[in-house]
Amino acid sequence: MVQFPEHFRWGAGTYSYQVEGAANEDGRGESIWDRFCSVPGNILHGDSGLVACDHYHRYREDIGLMKELGVQMYHFSVAWPRIVPQGRGQVNARGLDFYDRLVDTLLEAGIEPYATLYHWDLPQILQDEQGGWGSRDTAYAFAEYVDIVSRHFGDRIHNWLTLNEPAVTAFEGYEDGIHAPGLRDSRLAWQTSHHFLLAHGLAVPIIRANGDARTRVGITLNFTALDPATDTEEDREAVRFLDGKLHRWFLDAIFRGAYPADVLAKLGALVPETQPGDAEIIARPLDFLGANYYTRSVVGRGNNDLVDFTSVRVDGAEYTAMDWEVYPQGIYDMLVRLHREYAVPHIYLVENGSAFPDVVEDDGRIHDPRRINYLREHLLQVHAAVAQGVPLDGYSVWSLMDNFEWSLGYSMRFGIIHIDYATQKRRIKDSGYWYRNVIANNGLR
Ligand code: FCB
Repeated sequence: MVQFPEHFRWGAGTYSYQVEGAANEDGRGESIWDRFCSVPGNILHGDSGLVACDHYHRYREDIGLMKELGVQMYHFSVAWPRIVPQGRGQVNARGLDFYDRLVDTLLEAGIEPYATLYHWDLPQILQDEQGGWGSRDTAYAFAEYVDIVSRHFGDRIHNWLTLNEPAVTAFEGYEDGIHAPGLRDSRLAWQTSHHFLLAHGLAVPIIRANGDARTRVGITLNFTALDPATDTEEDREAVRFLDGKLHRWFLDAIFRGAYPADVLAKLGALVPETQPGDAEIIARPLDFLGANYYTRSVVGRGNNDLVDFTSVRVDGAEYTAMDWEVYPQGIYDMLVRLHREYAVPHIYLVENGSAFPDVVEDDGRIHDPRRINYLREHLLQVHAAVAQGVPLDGYSVWSLMDNFEWSLGYSMRFGIIHIDYATQKRRIKDSGYWYRNVIANNGLR
């Protein structure tokens, strides 16, 4: 029996654009993801979040399912365009009403809400009028929106995450162009990374001021285990830069108050513009860090060593439907590193999970042994990290239910609950029942 500490919390996550649907209801404004999805070729099969899992209308049923599984915390995000459809100014009361219903129903069910304030759905108008996160003004617009939301919910939501995965949205949205707003401009991408961090730092004291003694603030960063494709100096250097770009750039700014010198040196003309005082704003103390982990990349140097990297498949390794290597050891290494190198006070694992091509059997069951195995192997590593003294307070599975997986649309199923998109029927997968036992036992048998 592998037993987790008594204070350990178990959760599940979904995020606004991936599950809510109701994109044109109750005064919601257009987001950059609505616009991005409307361009043919951007999303597999032309999918979009227009309907998604219809969570906007079915949240009661979904919370009922969480209760059935014994889920103790729910990670969700608030959609900025529902609250302030024009990005700044006028507040849409019907947007707040939805999250009132959601949060109150969660609390009635005894489930702790963990709210992320930005999971990639920027109001489109801020993209059109000021270039989105390329503009410093967007960080200030974010702070205004955060003030509205945290003031309204400060009495009921005690755990807040400012941003989800700024590295992904900066580089996939502004450099690779595979996420909204679909731009390909490295200089701009690095500039947005600074504005994301600034937005985060500006939001921290606002959330605290609108809360009470129970209020805790963090940010969610993503981590990928990285190894060099060969033992050459070039490949090891590529890994060092990629680790700097995806991880240390954000960790150092937040927990050490400065961007890493080796990354700055390499960026040259791509170094973002900053203003005096920004570093202090970004490094404001946090209560916890949210960490996401899925996989490892084995990489080497590409043609442009700031942007592309060669990637190799590992012989004999297992890969998920995303083509992501199953590499449980990486979650352990990440946790130990956050503890030893950054002395992060408290950590939550906000996302960890896997996509597989699930099939509904004739009896209505979904047998997903590979997902169970993935979760089990990762949880064993998580437990080993806790045993090493890593201050980990909880684990949340991605995802509560199948949902809109960004540029891959509905083709990727990450849920422990299956969604039949034609009927919106929910079915708990075998992994969901398995997770229910983990929660009930606070450990693995
Ligand atoms: C993370 C995202 C989340 C989900 C998973 C698979 O990067 O935060 O929305 O798409 O990947």
